[in-house]
Amino acid sequence: MTRLPPMRWTRLYSVGHPTMDAQHQKLFVLVNELIQMQDTDSISQQQAIRETLPKLALYAEKHFHAEEMLMAKAKAEHLDNHRQKHAALLNQVTELQYKVGKGEFPPFQEVLLFLRYWLAEHILVTDKRYAPAMAKLLIENELTNGTQASVEALELW
Ligand SMILES: [Fe+2]
Repeated sequence: MTRLPPMRWTRLYSVGHPTMDAQHQKLFVLVNELIQMQDTDSISQQQAIRETLPKLALYAEKHFHAEEMLMAKAKAEHLDNHRQKHAALLNQVTELQYKVGKGEFPPFQEVLLFLRYWLAEHILVTDKRYAPAMAKLLIENELTNGTQASVEALELW
């Protein structure tokens, strides 16, 4: 199968809010942890899946929560639909984790393709929809507080 390049965050992925962009970049880093294991043996790859999936699920859950709070604050449209999409994404990863927990490993390349699509499609198609609402929120913040948008840290593990 074709070798996958690492995921690279570019401005194309920007959703117009620095904190959300920073958290999305962290998700890229986690998926890349697995992508960089392509040239190793299958035992190391399975070990990497076991280690990375829980980190990805935990971080994604925290990020989705932060994103939903921000969307509510920005009065972004389609919040309920977006929440459902987040729940479905988490389910997909949890299902994979469950299989892996039973020792059922899908082919490594299949896992990589799944996670890559899982992340990129959600940002580019779904998250992008809230960009105009976030832009308005940032402008309002700047006007009322005189502050520039800053990146708020999200505690990891
Ligand atoms: Fe999202």
